[in-house]
Amino acid sequence: MKLQDILEKESLSKDEIVKLLQSKDEDRTLLFRKAAEIKEKYIGKKVWFRGLIEFSNICGKDCYYCGIRKGNKNLKRYNLSDSEILSAAKFAYENNYGSIALQSGELENDTFTKRVEKLLFEIKKMSGGKLGITLSTGEQKPEVYKRWFEAGAHRYLLRIETSSRELYRKIHPYNAKHSFDRRLECLHSLQDIGYQTGTGVMIGLPFQSTSDLADDLIFMRDFDIDMAGMGPYIEHPDTPLMEHAGLLLPIAERFDLSLKMIAILRIMMKDINMVASTALQAIDPVGREKAIKVGANILMPNITPGKYRDSYRLYNNKPCTDEAAEDCRGCLEARVSLVDTEIIYGEWGDTLHYEKRKRSI
Ligand code: 5AD
Ligand code: FES
Repeated sequence: MKLQDILEKESLSKDEIVKLLQSKDEDRTLLFRKAAEIKEKYIGKKVWFRGLIEFSNICGKDCYYCGIRKGNKNLKRYNLSDSEILSAAKFAYENNYGSIALQSGELENDTFTKRVEKLLFEIKKMSGGKLGITLSTGEQKPEVYKRWFEAGAHRYLLRIETSSRELYRKIHPYNAKHSFDRRLECLHSLQDIGYQTGTGVMIGLPFQSTSDLADDLIFMRDFDIDMAGMGPYIEHPDTPLMEHAGLLLPIAERFDLSLKMIAILRIMMKDINMVASTALQAIDPVGREKAIKVGANILMPNITPGKYRDSYRLYNNKPCTDEAAEDCRGCLEARVSLVDTEIIYGEWGDTLHYEKRKRSI
């Protein structure tokens, strides 16, 4: 079948997805054009902000790919004070960002649960309920997710990282703390509680095949996610996965595959929210803008206080680690206008997808 015909289909098979992931030259251009058309039709040439507050890099887990893993001793650990977090949230509110995302290393304990709960209440109060809040604080018990939902968080991002159980096992220690099944259970409980649920994967991991990536896209479709955050895997020298760096695709190919994943998911799930991830910009100075062009509609400007930013290094080359939040806003406005896209201020930017799913429950 010609690529043009695949792009016209109602629903894509795995083989067709693989073909799209392998597309080159004019076929690749056709894929990107189709994704851009769908984005324009279902979403508009728009992006919404989620002001990102990386409030702590203290993590109880040891994922083999991640720079803030517990076992990395070459990293200064930090934990923002409540007032620093609140003032970052206030910055987002006063600058009309619409939403924030609170992200941290993964901790599961009562003190952490209570702290996040209290912060959620305070942020809701400070903004008169107007600031939307996404949480990205890892795997937790259903009761904890529930408490945070009741305290005001309404979106949750938990990347599955890879939908292949075998690959998951290769990139995580094999123990109860890093269980693929638990991750799946967490995603289900988030959805059951009523969160707008987001997941995503890393693209270009060692041992990962094109077939795995096609399965990842099918996983997201079958799970009926509301939001997706996907980006290229970038090796980090202080992590165990570095040992397999020899197996990696060249960085430009990982970048290209990431854009294709975004474009194909936009075609498969027309009305979800999709992030233009910061990891894309770590590879290409206009990486996020390229992602916006082919389907992404969410940007996460970093509003973590500058002095801590350098310590939230999930991977190397993380952009904007030394800039003030204000600079980021101006710089983003100029960048987004380059791809003929408008930033929508002061709105939560919930998906039509979520609204429809809620109605059908
Ligand atoms: N390269 C790219 N993304 C990474 N993440 C963690 N480590 C890396 C890396 N080396 C991503 C994971 C995680 C998110 C917060 O950052 O997907 O879910
Ligand atoms: Fe922190 Fe994976 S290393 S959750």
